Amino acid sequence: MSLELLNEVKVPKDFNLPKEITASELLEDAKLYEKAKELILKNKVCFLAHYYTAPIVQKLCEETGGFIGDSLEMARVGRDCKEQTVLVAGVRFMGQTAKILSKEKTVLMPDLNAECSLDLCCTKEDLKAQKELHKDAVVVAYANTSVEVKALADWIVTSSMAVSLGKYLASLGKEVLWVPDRHLGSYIGNESKAHVYSWPGKCIVHDSFSLDDILKVKKEHPEALLLVHPEAPASVVAKADFVGSTSQILAFAKQSSKKEFIIATEHNISYKLNQACKDKGFIEAPVKKTESYNRAKPSCPWMELNTLAKIVEALEKPQDHEIFVDEELRVASLKPLEKMLNFAQDLKSGRIVL
Ligand code: 13P
Ligand code: SF4
Repeated sequence: MSLELLNEVKVPKDFNLPKEITASELLEDAKLYEKAKELILKNKVCFLAHYYTAPIVQKLCEETGGFIGDSLEMARVGRDCKEQTVLVAGVRFMGQTAKILSKEKTVLMPDLNAECSLDLCCTKEDLKAQKELHKDAVVVAYANTSVEVKALADWIVTSSMAVSLGKYLASLGKEVLWVPDRHLGSYIGNESKAHVYSWPGKCIVHDSFSLDDILKVKKEHPEALLLVHPEAPASVVAKADFVGSTSQILAFAKQSSKKEFIIATEHNISYKLNQACKDKGFIEAPVKKTESYNRAKPSCPWMELNTLAKIVEALEKPQDHEIFVDEELRVASLKPLEKMLNFAQDLKSGRIVL
């Protein structure tokens, strides 16, 4: 592996996290279920929800004919759907991606302040400076970035294909300037043999997985397989039985003959895991407190902003929930995004074999 961490790039430590939602607030919010359902059906929206949204939001999505998926699939379905309005329950980069791919559609989000720590770890100014220093490297940006950063990238990838693109670029003899996730950067460097200059950003949720505590759980459940999202630290990834995106983790658990799994990704993925694998058991991987994150479980503070109350509000007052993207930036970021979707398609169809 050849990895150079860009330590001189400064990333935030304090992300000003939204307050954790309480059990009584969740109960109160659940009272809006029927109203939200009625509004979604009446407004004929294409409802996209990420696996990390609350179970009640995923249930609402299922019952209104919407789509639940990983960030790549959400992008694809948002682009291809016939509805004029797309409602994205996720974080901001997911809403922006839908808008970049479908200029003519109205894209709504329950909460326009649903950030992502990775997005906040990379500014366009810092990326411009690093591009100057690494002129020969291909700039590969994770989908978890702003439209300003995407517009500066040669390629965009999601976690489901990051290693494949690394291998592809390595086969062309290219170096990679990777933003913004340090752990995914190290995973790409390890698996693809590409020379990677990696940004030092992190997902505060996945970065908090504790290897020591995971190993204790493994000892208590020796038969359980450890399934890990590549945003987790390299030490956790190194112990994994499987590493993949949210959809890939689900697919792996479904096809496995094993009955027990330790899951190192956001806890709400358990909704779909339990639904798809009724005869299997899932254990949440333990987290530790870090300087940026102090929750007892792996829960994304920004995904949690997708409440039923805000879904109702987005449909009743769409003017306050619409995502807009500057046209020049949209055109510039569309190019690497389309490359990503075409690359994913070529991998699937076997047109590209690595
Ligand atoms: P996926 O691409 O696996 O859905 O991941 C998105 C994300 O935000 C992970 O934290
Ligand atoms: Fe971003 Fe991490 Fe939340 Fe995913 S889990 S949206 S990477 S902060």
